Amino acid sequence: MAKQEDVFKTIVAHAKEYGFVFQSSEIYDGLSAVYDYGQNGVELKNNIKRYWWEAMTMLNDNIVGIDSAIFMHPTIWKASGHVDAFNDPLIDNKDSKKRYRADVLIEDEIAKFDEKINKEVAKAAKRFGESFDEAMFRQTNPRVLEHARKRDELHERFSNAMNANDLAELKQIILDYEIVDPISGTRNWTDVRQFNLMFKTEMGSTADGAMEVYLRPETAQGIFVNYLNVQKTGRMRIPFGIAQIGKAFRNEIVARQFIFRMREFEQMEMQFFVRPGEELKWFEHWRQTRLRWHKALGLGDEKYRYHDHEKLAHYANAATDIEFMMPFGFKEVEGIHSRTNFDLSQHEKFSGKNIKYFDPELNESYVPYVIETSIGVDRMFLSVLCSCYEAQDLGNGDSRVVLHFPAPIAPVKCAVLPLVKKDGLPEKAREIQHKLRFDFTCQYDEKDSIGKRYRRQDAIGTPFCITVDHQTLEDNTVTLRERDSMEQRRVSVDELETILGSQVSLNSLLKKLL
Ligand code: GAP
Repeated sequence: MAKQEDVFKTIVAHAKEYGFVFQSSEIYDGLSAVYDYGQNGVELKNNIKRYWWEAMTMLNDNIVGIDSAIFMHPTIWKASGHVDAFNDPLIDNKDSKKRYRADVLIEDEIAKFDEKINKEVAKAAKRFGESFDEAMFRQTNPRVLEHARKRDELHERFSNAMNANDLAELKQIILDYEIVDPISGTRNWTDVRQFNLMFKTEMGSTADGAMEVYLRPETAQGIFVNYLNVQKTGRMRIPFGIAQIGKAFRNEIVARQFIFRMREFEQMEMQFFVRPGEELKWFEHWRQTRLRWHKALGLGDEKYRYHDHEKLAHYANAATDIEFMMPFGFKEVEGIHSRTNFDLSQHEKFSGKNIKYFDPELNESYVPYVIETSIGVDRMFLSVLCSCYEAQDLGNGDSRVVLHFPAPIAPVKCAVLPLVKKDGLPEKAREIQHKLRFDFTCQYDEKDSIGKRYRRQDAIGTPFCITVDHQTLEDNTVTLRERDSMEQRRVSVDELETILGSQVSLNSLLKKLL
């Protein structure tokens, strides 16, 4: 079986070869942790965004959307805590002159214990064959237990240091565990320092006294500072939500795993404003609602898990991540946070404006509590891409690469293919394509053999191919080929819109959510 890292590398190469994701500025040797979406990538990304947006704003009477600016008044980031506390702990190696995130170096060390455990399990599985009881082995094997004990010990020390913001202790852990720089191989480390993740730029000309502004590190603050505008102009009553999709920027030091951790990325965030005291009920509601949204895509229920936070940020009273099984392990795709009234109270304090909500039912004013759902578009894109990729052996030396995208979010919904490039078939195929393109992203392709064209469409995840042959000219029927089963059936051209519509419309997905 191919190793998971190799599978991931193959997926990354596939994403480039088929126009999903390109390295930014590639002809200038690229810009690290910044990516561009190609012709198929942008369609998939837009469909994911549409699925989220419509699930939020169309299926909920009390959720509306906004689109706030990326630049915001710099005091907003002081109020939110990002200026003082949005930091990563960094350490430099004096020999290689490379900079690392101290927490990532330690997390990698923790992961080594799990690798050792997995090696023991794999060895034993080979030795015992069919009779191997993995669960029992993990619970009783002394070497596995010793690795697990050491892992937990390191994990606890690390968590305590992170929670206490104890930079000296982070360095001490690196020294005690003899963590070496992967480049120089030495342990010649500097002290650990905090590094703010926000990008800064200047607004206005320097002669006028330019103002230092930040590229927003999250879209959420644009919602907080507009909550009362939306509430008043939309006559919203608590509980209500505001949704937003937009770019966010973080100067990530350890950028890796392709589009998983980027410096410019996109978020889909929703802040749900509730009465104080009702936040935990709504937190549970959104925790479940968001998982249902993920699972409705049909990528496999077993690929998701919750990670409930035990240690909470000072402003939160509950937090969960929805994690997805990527080729490099279970990773956070979405966070659901009960943020209390922290952000709004801070904005009230820093702006000096009263931003309380008057509750007509209670006849009192208060600063609402907030439940936030925050998902990265790019991480969602990556989870869809990775779980839908399959290199399929078709037997008899034949194979194909297929992306089993859920049809409603597939970049291209159908391809119209004339069997040959003559006898009036291209004209008929064009006629069908022109009819379908009002409702579906639809490609026309007449180059190469029909087999090769099917493979090209499989490789970008097109759910349906429509083949026009000589019989089409006689009885107005075509061959409809389904991507996953590769089954072909004869259907009338007049039926195409109905058949495709029932399978590829976003509505079919949205209806599963109610
Ligand atoms: N407003 C809350 C917030 O921003 P977060 O956990 O820092 O919370 C939310 O980010 C989501 O944004 C994450 O679950 C992830 O999907 C995405 N995200 C965060 N940093 C990212 C990065 N550097 N690259 C890609 N996606 C990122």
